[in-house]
Amino acid sequence: MLEDLKKIEESAKAELGEVSDISRFESLKIQFLGRKGALSLILRSVKDLPEAERRSIGDAANRLRDALEVLFLKRETELRKTVIEGSLRGEWVDITHPGVRNPRGHRHPLSLITEKIEDIFHDLGFVTVEGPEVEMEYYNFDALNVPKDHPARDIQDTFWLKARHVEGEGMRHLLRTQTSPVQIRFMEKNNPPFRIISPGRVFRHEATDASHEFQFHQIEGLMVGRRGELGGDVSIANFKAVMGEFFRKFFNMKDMKIQLRPAYFPFVEPGFEMYISCVNCGMKGCSVCKRQGWIEILGAGMVHPSVFKAVGYNPRDVQGFAFGMAIDRLAMMKYKIPDIRLLHSGDMRFINQF
Ligand code: DAH
Repeated sequence: MLEDLKKIEESAKAELGEVSDISRFESLKIQFLGRKGALSLILRSVKDLPEAERRSIGDAANRLRDALEVLFLKRETELRKTVIEGSLRGEWVDITHPGVRNPRGHRHPLSLITEKIEDIFHDLGFVTVEGPEVEMEYYNFDALNVPKDHPARDIQDTFWLKARHVEGEGMRHLLRTQTSPVQIRFMEKNNPPFRIISPGRVFRHEATDASHEFQFHQIEGLMVGRRGELGGDVSIANFKAVMGEFFRKFFNMKDMKIQLRPAYFPFVEPGFEMYISCVNCGMKGCSVCKRQGWIEILGAGMVHPSVFKAVGYNPRDVQGFAFGMAIDRLAMMKYKIPDIRLLHSGDMRFINQF
């Protein structure tokens, strides 16, 4: 029987040395110290032993049970400690670790530029008005004095919309090719004096390249006064003053020069193109200004009498200037963007730079 006790002790020590998880440990504990275990059987049979053996076997068995209880307790403590440490390691939060920022949206470079342009004009007393992108032939061409056979109306330049039914002259629908129709819409409902600007998207049926897109953005301007009223004789000099102020502020260049050259637009007389001194080379001549020192920047002129008539004004009573320029080009110049198509690409690598 002493042999048996020895075996129990050895196998318990061996098993305890190997066990590494709590549930296995629990079953070992039942196996060695439980009521149905080998050791318990021996302890229970001690009373039936002959007098001579009873004492020594009983003592040995009791000592083994005490020793095993100590060993099991020690091992249990060790096991629980490693289990707790393991789970702590898994759950540990490093509160000094920098957080992950949620990506934030921001405005598109064209929106930034449009706002900047509007801000400057608002300071000069202009207010922003809007018009539709789907326009009628009348507003986009007829009322603006564009001749019926003008090539701009051609299918090659204009996106015409298939209408379900068209009633009468000028009622065909198109995607506006310019922001100028907003002039007509505004003047039909308002009387001078006023100063308005109208930024927006325009569309042209054109092949695209680095400087052409089939959709781009323009800003239209219109300032009209009543002749004879104080400040009512809105003149070319007024136009030059307003535009000079605008461009010097926009490009933040005090010494910027502007120049007018005669040009034809059906809705103005006289009409001109405005040039600014090159923002890139200071007029020394570079690739941006094609070695000219000047950059063509907008179309403008004194509003044509036919346009005033179309909106019900008497051309003898009113006078003013109009202008239109491409916002995309201003953005490209301001931010040195080499290709207009980038502005419409939706490419985040580009957009995130602003
Ligand atoms: N609408 C013209 C264009 O798209 C630009 C323009 C020229 C606007 C002269 C005007 C103007 O208001 O007076 O090319």
